[in-house]
Amino acid sequence: MGEKTILLANEQETRKLGQTLADDLSPNTVILLRGNLGAGKTTFIQGLAVGLGIQGAIASPTFTLINEYLEGRLPLYHIDLYRLQPEEIKQLHLQTYWEGIEVEPGITAIEWSELLPHLPSHYLQIELSINDDDTRQAKIITDVTQKR
Ligand SMILES: Nc1ncnc2c1ncn2[C@@H]1O[C@H](COP(=O)(O)OP(=O)(O)OP(=O)(O)O)[C@@H](O)[C@H]1O
Ligand SMILES: [Mg+2]
Repeated sequence: MGEKTILLANEQETRKLGQTLADDLSPNTVILLRGNLGAGKTTFIQGLAVGLGIQGAIASPTFTLINEYLEGRLPLYHIDLYRLQPEEIKQLHLQTYWEGIEVEPGITAIEWSELLPHLPSHYLQIELSINDDDTRQAKIITDVTQKR
């Protein structure tokens, strides 16, 4: 497990962080995003999409729950759990995405991952927070392994 904190002075820097991180990702990686309303989770994932070579715009999936982008170096599965109840989240069978058995192995990025009833066995965690001057801060925790 590794941990580092980065200051994100503006929207471009949040995007750039996602873009840079995309280079190192291997299939079946889960990225759990945490952070308050408007902390920059979607912005980060937009950068991630650019880094993966996804051309189209990344929308906020708050109303669609799951968006799949298949045209990049790896598929991107973008999930937003905001407003969902634990029981509804269970019924989504999200593990399908990171097991990569029924779907093409890709990157699963989850907004509001605090709401997940069960964590994946292995993941990358990004905690975004808003500073007093409206800049953002990202705490990146790599290689988190869950004991069962
Ligand atoms: N580093 C930054 N500094 C200042 N503003 C930023 C930064 N990163 C993102 N923003 C801005 O913050 C706003 C909210 O960003 P975004 O939609 O990505 O947040 P979110 O965490 O996905 O929100 P939600 O909780 O609604 O899903 C956007 O207007 C975005 O441009
Ligand atoms: Mg969002």
